[in-house]
Amino acid sequence: MSVSKGYLLKGVRVLGGPATDLLLRDGIIAAVGRIGGATAKGAEVVVADGLVALPGLVDLHTHLREPGREDAETVESGSRAAALGGYTAVCAMANTSPVADSAGVVEQVWRLGREAGLVDVQPVGAVTVGLGGQRLAELGAMAESVAGVRMFSDDGNCVHDPRLMRRALEYVKAFDGVIAQHAEEPRLTQDAQMHEGVVSADLGLPGWPAVAEEAIIARDVLLAEHVGARLHVCHVSTAGSVEILRWAKRRGIRVTAEVTPHHLLLTDEWVRGRGELASPGLADQRIVGRAYDPVFKVNPPLRTQSDVDALREALVDGTIDAVATDHAPHALQDKECEWAYAKPGMLGLETALSIVVTTLLDALGWDGIAERMSRAPARIAGLTAAGHGQDPVKGAPANLTLVDPEARWTVDPTRLASRSRNTPYAGLELTGRVVATFLRGVPTVLDGKATR
Ligand code: DOR
Ligand code: ZN
Repeated sequence: MSVSKGYLLKGVRVLGGPATDLLLRDGIIAAVGRIGGATAKGAEVVVADGLVALPGLVDLHTHLREPGREDAETVESGSRAAALGGYTAVCAMANTSPVADSAGVVEQVWRLGREAGLVDVQPVGAVTVGLGGQRLAELGAMAESVAGVRMFSDDGNCVHDPRLMRRALEYVKAFDGVIAQHAEEPRLTQDAQMHEGVVSADLGLPGWPAVAEEAIIARDVLLAEHVGARLHVCHVSTAGSVEILRWAKRRGIRVTAEVTPHHLLLTDEWVRGRGELASPGLADQRIVGRAYDPVFKVNPPLRTQSDVDALREALVDGTIDAVATDHAPHALQDKECEWAYAKPGMLGLETALSIVVTTLLDALGWDGIAERMSRAPARIAGLTAAGHGQDPVKGAPANLTLVDPEARWTVDPTRLASRSRNTPYAGLELTGRVVATFLRGVPTVLDGKATR
């Protein structure tokens, strides 16, 4: 085996701090500080003046579509999109075809991730067989497989039977696993097409009321308390959900929550083509939106400005632990069709960090961004021991991303690495761009380009 020559990153600002050098060798950060030629002998020098070093980002919520819908995304194309977005690990959701509800399928996804070698693909196991909501899947077999599944979710569907949800929480408690709930009471969202409110009433579209999310979260935090197990709430989207989470956390219930970039920025007004970018960092820009553009169809739906404000506040004060993309690639024919027939979901991996930097850097700081996009998601998913979510300090695993905090770039759907094109941010100019990503000391992205 050849000895790795390593990489010497010159002039980086760790978590936005003063400029320093990092030597990456043998998969770890071998040295930090002013590093001279002798120490770094043989290492490739990366001029990184002014670039901010963050721990490699971790996405709690990625749809990779393989197996089954390789026309929309593959493990490899999604991994490349992730690396370009600054990620070193992603949790791959189970709603594939076949569903990831057995050791065989999660092992297949895990292996494909290893083969692609761009990020660590951590499969999420289904809670119920075939996402059917009727019978528990083989949680133990998935946990014991090479994929070592710790997070289980029926995402796309809600585990709506309270007895089954209780059993699932009891089951994963034994190995400190976590159930990630897609909170949607299906009886309240039948035929729903968008958020239920003023806009849905104006447009005459059947609505998805906030209470359908909030009722499930309220129920599930109580179940988690009763069982003493860990609950994670996917893509929180309403102000009411935030209040319930705040109450549950104050009470000491073991609950964590994520929010997506799109729920932190966009509202239901976009569905009728009248969206505004009320956020700091973007107020001078417009996306030319048209009414009923299915690129804005997503589940849970885009809500109101007061929900957006509450979500931003909750992310800043820590009530919401993490930003997760809910990267949901869809093939052209599933998005460029009538609103009612379009599939819900948006791309996220290649824009998430830039959206957060552009709109929330002032409120969160670089350390806050590292917490919500790397450390907290790594803890929630159980990926800390695997080397994720650790700050770039001496001796830490060399999983990190370098961001140019000043770079401005315009989102062009045709230039994304994802196989799909359904980004809601086409034409938007964002601040902050990933320049390089390292996975165990090996660059997956250099000069803003994927290395494989
Ligand atoms: O918008 C969504 N898309 N929400 C989900 O829960 C599932 C996801 C998908 O798989 O496309
Ligand atoms: Zn979901």
